[in-house]
Amino acid sequence: MNGKLSMRRVNGTLGAMRAGPATLAKRASGPGGRAAFGVRAQASNTDETMGFKTMRKGVKEASDETLLTPRFYTTDFDEMEQLFSKEFNPNINMDEFDACLNEFRNDYNRIHFVRNDTFKKAAENIDGETRKIFVEFLERSCTAEFSGFLLYKELGRRLKKTNPVVAEIFSLMSRDEARHAGFLNKALSDFNLSLDLGFMTKNRSYTFFKPKFIFYATYLSEKIGYWRYITIYRTLQQNPDNQLYPIFEYFENWCQDENRHGDFFSALLKSQPQFLNDWQSDLWCRFFCLSVYITMYLNDHQRTVFYETVGLNTREFNQHVIIETNRTTQRIFSSVPDVENPKFFEKLDKLVDLNAKVIEAGKQGNAVEKFLSIGKMAVIILSFFFMKPLKTGSYTFEEESEEGGEVALQY
Ligand SMILES: [Fe+2]
Ligand SMILES: [Fe+2]
Repeated sequence: MNGKLSMRRVNGTLGAMRAGPATLAKRASGPGGRAAFGVRAQASNTDETMGFKTMRKGVKEASDETLLTPRFYTTDFDEMEQLFSKEFNPNINMDEFDACLNEFRNDYNRIHFVRNDTFKKAAENIDGETRKIFVEFLERSCTAEFSGFLLYKELGRRLKKTNPVVAEIFSLMSRDEARHAGFLNKALSDFNLSLDLGFMTKNRSYTFFKPKFIFYATYLSEKIGYWRYITIYRTLQQNPDNQLYPIFEYFENWCQDENRHGDFFSALLKSQPQFLNDWQSDLWCRFFCLSVYITMYLNDHQRTVFYETVGLNTREFNQHVIIETNRTTQRIFSSVPDVENPKFFEKLDKLVDLNAKVIEAGKQGNAVEKFLSIGKMAVIILSFFFMKPLKTGSYTFEEESEEGGEVALQY
């Protein structure tokens, strides 16, 4: 999973992060004339923790869990076993899963995640608020990738008997996510901090989702992760001066992993038509799209300095990623929000303003203002469900005829 800036796995729900004092050192403008921040000629703060809490020397305490932070997931594994049992589920198309398995066995990125000596030096040159934001970005991303690793690994273990092909795919996806998380954790160590992933495995709380919701959420997180990585990669390719740290050079192949993971979830969803063919699935599909898009939009707008640093306009970047993810998602979800209706982003922008007010009111201890702003946010979030959605998906239905004919279901 991705996300993931927590580049992929789309991370939970709404929360807060403080924007610290602007001690940003400007550097020369990039090719677009935009000033980038936070880089100084020589490093000096390599042994500081930048105010982050540490468990022990060099090991960062995981950030508090909020509605917006990446989560660890668990599910009903017995139900999962039934869903992938050919005995219980006649819709399983093993040809498609066999093809997926061959792709994963090819292991295209086996030698992709190899570091070089430019990493440490680049990290040493990142300073001040930008350095802090980089650490937060790496931590969120690492946690999100590791969350995918844990879930896929367990699914690989639990489905071995029922469906060895699907089980092996999950295990190979957990291989990919372990690589991604490990690469990010190694990057954190360039900033003299790292995460104790073993400790987190045992001590972080796990959010329970029924299998159906795991499918919606992971499909979206993989696809949105793909669009985030590839957009950042392409932007930096055009403006290489903005690449403060070499991790972004790896995003092109990295995002192909996320794309393959998403395609596998698409095949999984097709094998479970009961999750895509009624009014409840329409609602849930939209609910998950909205949760993921809103969460990303609010999260990223609290970290605009990070995106500006790598040469992105946070708003444009987010809108592009949401539109592309939604276009991809409508090939499989039975309903998606109409994000290309101009009102959609108007509402999201209002949420950003209100979220800023909630954070400000929290800092000032103004409970009334905070409560009022949260109330206004809730009204806007609810209003998304009253916007005309798009009826989408791979399935087409013929309504049951008056003579009592059968419902036809086809790809
Ligand atoms: Fe993934
Ligand atoms: Fe990943």
